[in-house]
Formats: sequence, C-alpha cells, structure tokens
Amino acid sequence: MAPHPVKIGIIGGTGMNDPNILKSQTEKKVDTPFGPPSDSLLVGEIEGVPCVVLARHGRQHNIMPSNVNYRANIWALKEEGCTHIIATTATGSLQEAIKPGDIVVLDSFIDRTYKREQTFYDGKSGHPKGICHLPVEPAFCEETRKAIVESAKKINMNVHQEGTVVVIEGPRYSTKAESMVYKSWGAHVITMTPVPEVILAKEAAICYGSIALVTDYDVWRSCGETVCAQEVIKCFKENIDKVKGLILATVKTIAEKDWGPTIKELQETVKNSIMAGEE
Ligand code: ADE
Repeated sequence: MAPHPVKIGIIGGTGMNDPNILKSQTEKKVDTPFGPPSDSLLVGEIEGVPCVVLARHGRQHNIMPSNVNYRANIWALKEEGCTHIIATTATGSLQEAIKPGDIVVLDSFIDRTYKREQTFYDGKSGHPKGICHLPVEPAFCEETRKAIVESAKKINMNVHQEGTVVVIEGPRYSTKAESMVYKSWGAHVITMTPVPEVILAKEAAICYGSIALVTDYDVWRSCGETVCAQEVIKCFKENIDKVKGLILATVKTIAEKDWGPTIKELQETVKNSIMAGEE
C-alpha cells in the first residue's frame, strides 16, 4: 500500500513570522465554524513537501495568547488537509541545565490556563456533535516527537529529547513564588500557548509536535533575574536559523515515513472518545 500522503502545518510562535521558508506560496484567507484563524494560511511547499504556515499571534503579532482563536487555527489547518503540525514556542527554562538557546522537544504539559476553549465538541450549533472525553496522555504525538529528535540528529543539533511544559494564561510572566512551584513540580520549561493547541490538534486527529526554544531562565534563580518580552524576542531572533533548520529537517523526515498507522490510531482514539454524538 502507498504511504499515507502528508501535509504539514507549521504554527509559528513569537519570533517565527517568517513565511519565506515556503516555496510556491499562495495566501489563503479562510473562515471556520469557530470564526477566523489568526491570519491567512500561507500554502506552499518545503523541499517538495506540501506545507501550510500560520502565524499563531497574527503576522503583526497583535493577538495575545488568551485571545488566539486556537480552535479556528486548528480547524483551518485540518480543512486545508494537514496531517501534521510542527509548532514552535518561545519558553522560559525551569532547570539550570536547560539553557537559553537550547531546544526542548515537548512531550507533556501542565495546564495552568483558565480562559480558553479546549474542545470543538461544545454542544453549539454548527459545531461537531457529541461530547469528547479525549485522553491526553500522551498529548504530543510521540511519532512526531521522535521524527523531530531524529531530524536534529541528522543535522548534528543537540536537543533535549523530551520535556514537560507549564502553560500559563499570561500575558504576564510569573512571580518568583509561582516559578518556584512550577520548578518543584519537575517541569522543564514554561510558556503560554501549547494548551489548548495540542489538545485541539489531537481532537482533529492531527499529529502534533512542538519545538520549544528556550529564551530565558524565567525567574526562579537566586540571582534575581527577571523576564523581559524584548529579551525573549531578541533571543528567539538570535536562534531563528536553528529553529528553521530543525523544521526543514523535520519536514523531510516526516515525508519519508508512512504515517498511515499513526493517523489511524489517532482517528480511533478520537472516535472512541466521543459520547452521544449520533443523531
Ligand atoms: N515565553 C518565553 N519565556 C517565558 C516565560 N519565562 N514564561 C512564560 N512564557 C514565556
């Protein structure tokens, strides 16, 4: 049997608004039952692989984490035919050994958000029917995480192969007391966007992997350093080529594999999670 065709959505976070990685690009303004996504979809290809780029915060970076329409973003990428999402996110480190400039390939999250819609199955008219009790262990697609790690090895890039991210509501950063709590939980990095993005991707049966770039040490260290948005952006920009290099390598690795079994398993998980959806 021919391998399952792939299309890769790339959700760029803070500092990743470079649509130029995409060849033969067309801009597509779309709408969804959940409203419009953060920006137009940029549809094209990378190394001959069909890809779609979406700026999570809008290309003008004017949508704060709580106001990102995560449902519309994921729905739009699904409608466009994406089988995968590679997301990037700027993160603060909660561990001494994870340094600014490092990359962590996320494998779990601790959810500290409280204002965001986490499901497409909300009982509203025009939305998918039923109630979805989705298992989120694992939340991030393991096969996609492995593809990212394998790609890093291919290009001789050191990455932290797994890591738990604390996702806070924001837009403010944490107090030292909060940061110490998150650190004591054993989490590795902290940021504001992978939840509910990763959950909605799983509901949509999309293989979702996340490349977390470490931009700062958050505020738990005894030297009294603080986090500053300008510094976060600066650090991300300094490391942008690294992130892009890893994305390009991962696109190639993903395209080489047969995703049929992984996608089928995801679809089964979603199907088995939905209750009372039949008319
Ligand atoms: N994004 C980048 N650094 C962060 C931090 N320290 N806390 C939350 N989000 C971040």
